[in-house]
Amino acid sequence: MATGHIPDAHELTITEPVSSQFEKIPVQVFGQAIDASKEIARRIADRIHFRAAKDENCVLGLATGSTPVSVYAELVRMHREDGLSFKNVVTFNLDEYFPMQPNELQSYVRFMHEHLFDHIDILPENINIPDGTLAKADVPEFCAKYETKIELLGGIDIQILGIGRTGHIGFNEPGSSKTSSTRLITLDRVTRSDAAGDFFGEENVPRRAITMGVGSILSASEIYIIAYGEHKAQIVAEAVEGEISPMVSASFLQEHPHCRFMLDISAAQGLTRFRCPWLVEQVEWTDLLTRKAVIWLARLLDKPILKLTEKDYNEEGLQDLLAEHGPAYDINVQVFRHLQRTITGWPAGKPADLKQPGDVSRPHDDIFPK
Ligand code: GLP
Repeated sequence: MATGHIPDAHELTITEPVSSQFEKIPVQVFGQAIDASKEIARRIADRIHFRAAKDENCVLGLATGSTPVSVYAELVRMHREDGLSFKNVVTFNLDEYFPMQPNELQSYVRFMHEHLFDHIDILPENINIPDGTLAKADVPEFCAKYETKIELLGGIDIQILGIGRTGHIGFNEPGSSKTSSTRLITLDRVTRSDAAGDFFGEENVPRRAITMGVGSILSASEIYIIAYGEHKAQIVAEAVEGEISPMVSASFLQEHPHCRFMLDISAAQGLTRFRCPWLVEQVEWTDLLTRKAVIWLARLLDKPILKLTEKDYNEEGLQDLLAEHGPAYDINVQVFRHLQRTITGWPAGKPADLKQPGDVSRPHDDIFPK
C-alpha cells in the first residue's frame, strides 16, 4: 500500500465561502445533530474510497468526547451495511489523559475501541493513540515520533475535532500557541471540572494529558469541528466570530483554508445570524423578532426600553425595524406593554373562578395612546 499524499485543492470537499460577514470559518447548521454526524461520516467514507481507488492510505485524525460518538456509529453502520472497508485507513487520535492505562474506564484507547475500532476492519498496526502509560521522561521523544509518523504518511486527510468549554481543540488549553506540536500539557480547571463526572470526582481527573498541538491540527488537509447542544453555543460563537487568540485555541482554525464547523441548531444560537439576524439579512419583523431586537438593543445600550431613541435604533442597525413599525416610541411602547403583561402574581395562571373582567389588561394601559 502506497503512503498518502497532500491532496490537490479540487479533492477537498470544503470550498464554500463563509455564511455571513461575521463568521470567519464556514459553518454548516443542521436541524438535528444526527444529520450533521451522517454528513461527516459520508465525507470520511468518500475520502476513504477516493484513496482506496488509488491504492493509497487514508489518514484520519480522530477525536474523543461525546460529540463524535454518532459519527463513529454511522461509520460502523457503513462498514456493516454498505461494505465500507477501513483496510487502507491509518488513524491518529488527538489526545489521551496522562497518566492513563489503556484498559481504564476513562482511557481514550478504550473509548476508541468501544466506539469504533472493535467494529470495523482497521488493521491494529494502523491505530495511533498517544500513550498514557509512558514514563514522563519518555514523553517528549514519543511526541516527536508521533509528529514524524504523521508527516511520513503524507499528513492527515481529514481531522475531526470537538470543542471544549475553554475553546480547546484536542487538549490545547488556553495559552497554546498556533505552532504548538504534540506534547504533554497541564489541564485547565474548567476542563477537569467538565471531566469530573467521568472520573467520579474532579480530584480523580488527571492533571495532565498528551495532546497533538494546534500546529499539528492545522497541518491537516481538511478539518471538521463538531459541536452539539446549547452549552457549546457561546464558545462556538467566540471561535467563529471572535478575534484569533491563544485564549481560544479553536479560533486558530480561522486561518485554515479547509475547515468547517458542523453544528446542530442549538450550538449555532450564539452566532450573529441567529442571535441578531437583522444585522445579517433582511428579516420579516414578526412580533417575536421585534421583541427580541428591542430587548437586545436595551441590553446592549444598558437603557430602559421606554428610553430607546430613534438614534439608538439607527446606530445599532435597526433602521429597517423603524421603517416598518416606527417611530421608536410606538415600538418601545408595544414591546414594553407585552413585557408588562407577562408580569403577574399568578405565574401558573390565575384560576378561572378568581378572574375579574379587568384582569386581561394591566393597570396602567391607559397612560399610553393606543
Ligand atoms: C475533551 C477532549 C476533546 C473534546 C472535548 C469535548 O476535552 N479532549 O477532544 O473535544 O472533551 O467533549 P464533548 O464532545 O464530550 O463535549
